[in-house]
Amino acid sequence: MPTMQDMTGQVALVTGAGGGLGGASAVRLAELGADVAVLDVSADALAGTAEKVRAMGRKVLELPLNLTDRAQCAAAVEQTVGHFGKIDSLCNIAGVLRCGRSEDFPEADWDLVMKVNLEAPFFLSRAAIPHMLKANSGTIVNVCSTASFKAQGFFSVYCATKAGLMHLTKTMAVEYIKTPIRINAVAPGGMDTPLAGEAGPAFALDAEIVGRLGNPGGMCVIDDVADMVAYLASPASRSMRGSCVVVDTGEIVW
Ligand SMILES: NC(=O)c1ccc[n+]([C@@H]2O[C@H](COP(=O)([O-])OP(=O)(O)OC[C@H]3O[C@@H](n4cnc5c(N)ncnc54)[C@H](O)[C@@H]3O)[C@@H](O)[C@H]2O)c1
Repeated sequence: MPTMQDMTGQVALVTGAGGGLGGASAVRLAELGADVAVLDVSADALAGTAEKVRAMGRKVLELPLNLTDRAQCAAAVEQTVGHFGKIDSLCNIAGVLRCGRSEDFPEADWDLVMKVNLEAPFFLSRAAIPHMLKANSGTIVNVCSTASFKAQGFFSVYCATKAGLMHLTKTMAVEYIKTPIRINAVAPGGMDTPLAGEAGPAFALDAEIVGRLGNPGGMCVIDDVADMVAYLASPASRSMRGSCVVVDTGEIVW
């Protein structure tokens, strides 16, 4: 008997699929039966994930694209629909982290983090929604962070993008509440990925301030967060709209 999480016959576009959470989510979605378009700026990392999806017997489309470019965001959706004929789920997982004192934070880093973390999920959604409206179904899953809720010193632009992404999720969920399109988010706590390594230099700025990020609950298991991404992408989450589900081993309550 198929479970509500069964995604057989569905097509998901997963960004950041060369990375820790994006890769695990693409594989989890494939495990549930979805064909997957995997997108990342790193073609090499992407190939590794694509291989795992293929090994599950699912079809895969590799999209080595750069999400800082709005035209490439739109192209990703069009290529997915051109290849598979539709897009059932968009999982906005790609993200970048830069730290530094606000008074000398490089403009280029501000632009990069804003573009990848906040603008790209919007422009990908903007491109995907017309296809979802036409198909009368669709889910969008945005990956936020505990930084959506908790001020983290020396990560001002990252926190601003993740808080913005959470509110974008809620606002767009309301906008499409009269349609079958459901838009939700996951807010992970710390996960052991290359992105988390970018936080290292901040300890040299003020270890006490940055130390607030840790918690005795430890790091999140990446596959557990990927499970939540897949749940929100699947019909199993049919009662959820505009939610931001925290999976953080207690980081926020600590
Ligand atoms: N790792 C953590 O502690 C943590 C905590 C909370 C939230 N998150 C969020 O989880 C998501 C996934 O991060 P992760 O931890 O798996 O990191 P990761 O670095 O392993 O993966 C991020 C991926 O995004 C890709 N990417 C970056 N810039 C891109 C661009 N311009 N175009 C296309 N792809 C691009 C990278 O190549 C990488 O493969 C991010 O949105 C991140 O903010 C991570």
